[in-house]
Amino acid sequence: MIGAGYVGLVTGACLADLGHTVLCVDRDSEKIEALSAGRVPIYEEGLEAVVGKNLESGDLRFTTDIQEAVSKSMFVFITVDTPPDEIGRADMTHVEEVARSIACSINDYKVIINKSTVPIGSTKMVDTIIEESMEEHLEYDVVSNPEFLREGTAVADFLNPSRIVIGSDSQKAVRLLTELYRGLDAPLLVTDPVSAEMIKYASNAFLATKVTYINAIANLCEAIGADVREVAIGMGYDERIGFEFLKPGPGFGGSCFPKDCAALLAISRDHGYDFDLLDGVLKVNQEQHERTAARVDRMAGGLKGKKVGVLGLSFKANTDDVRDSPAIKVARMLLERGAEVIAFDPRAMENGRRELPGAGFAENAYEVARGADILVLLTEWDEFKWLDYERVRGLMASPRVMDARNCLDPVVLRKLGFTYEGIGR
Ligand code: UDX
Repeated sequence: MIGAGYVGLVTGACLADLGHTVLCVDRDSEKIEALSAGRVPIYEEGLEAVVGKNLESGDLRFTTDIQEAVSKSMFVFITVDTPPDEIGRADMTHVEEVARSIACSINDYKVIINKSTVPIGSTKMVDTIIEESMEEHLEYDVVSNPEFLREGTAVADFLNPSRIVIGSDSQKAVRLLTELYRGLDAPLLVTDPVSAEMIKYASNAFLATKVTYINAIANLCEAIGADVREVAIGMGYDERIGFEFLKPGPGFGGSCFPKDCAALLAISRDHGYDFDLLDGVLKVNQEQHERTAARVDRMAGGLKGKKVGVLGLSFKANTDDVRDSPAIKVARMLLERGAEVIAFDPRAMENGRRELPGAGFAENAYEVARGADILVLLTEWDEFKWLDYERVRGLMASPRVMDARNCLDPVVLRKLGFTYEGIGR
């Protein structure tokens, strides 16, 4: 497993759990040292336990030595990051470097698997780099095998996948990879490499569009006096629509949706197709962040000199990840509008602090409420649903709540004396 980031670590640890012997490589020696001691640098439900168990059994090992890992393995997964450049294209520098290193270390037949979300045509590109960098020609195959792991439930998602997609023109590679995943019960879809790459982008952009659609409907519900939660349930009963991904909020975020939508848009432009729909999704999503900040401003009667308590910093609940987090974006907008921002997150304080210079941070949700003119709930952590809101009201300068995740009961809060606003209700 080349790259012990989010995807590599979860995939490596879970493959070890399926009974394979896995070597995880990363060039960050501090990270490798920590992982070798069983310390997992990210918060992901169940991951530390799987890593610990397989370290102990010897099925999982961490190293900085890519040559050792490649030469000892039959399957080589590329799981390095592909950060977006200024115009949204995935930066392939790390993938290219890894492809060259693999080429120098091949000693026998290998299946080389692209798992990072990479631009269309990358399987071919990796193949070409390896071909050109190899000193003597040895047999190998490059395969696209996109991951569909959600943060917060990545271990469970790996062990119970919705589908396994293998994009390859080589029957041998498909057979071997199918064998590797034998412990998993999921539909297997074998495609050409380009289609496999497209499946990943098309799925994420579709889900981002679905969230954006319900956000737009929520905004309209506010204007006409409907409740978006009822509307979403009524829509969800139609099996063609389904209930998932119909929760309105402050806009989508995270390490995948914004990046993948921007990359797909760039791919479309490069191929002469105007993907106006996706362009619209990104614009509406940005507006949704702005609408959330503007609403807090309106509810507080202006934000200059006001104290705003921010509940939640991670991009969604049950993760410490703040990459492209709508909570961080909205909090920044509140600061720009002149508010004093005090924030708390159950897991993402350390990451949040780095992203939000100028904000204050509290030890817990009640400390956030102390003296606040308004509270804004930006991440749907369970603990925010079960706060003692009577106590919260007593601590606040004025009892106002902007619930950007529709986590709370407006009837209960209004009875307690709060001015409450949710999204689309
Ligand atoms: C996503 C995909 O779900 C996963 O398959 C892919 O491999 C990686 O990208 P992830 O980024 O972990 O996973 O988050 P996800 O749970 O999909 O949520 C993405 C964003 O949409 C979050 O900001 C979340 O809060 C938001 N969202 C999701 C909503 O606002 N409403 C919803 O109903 C669902």
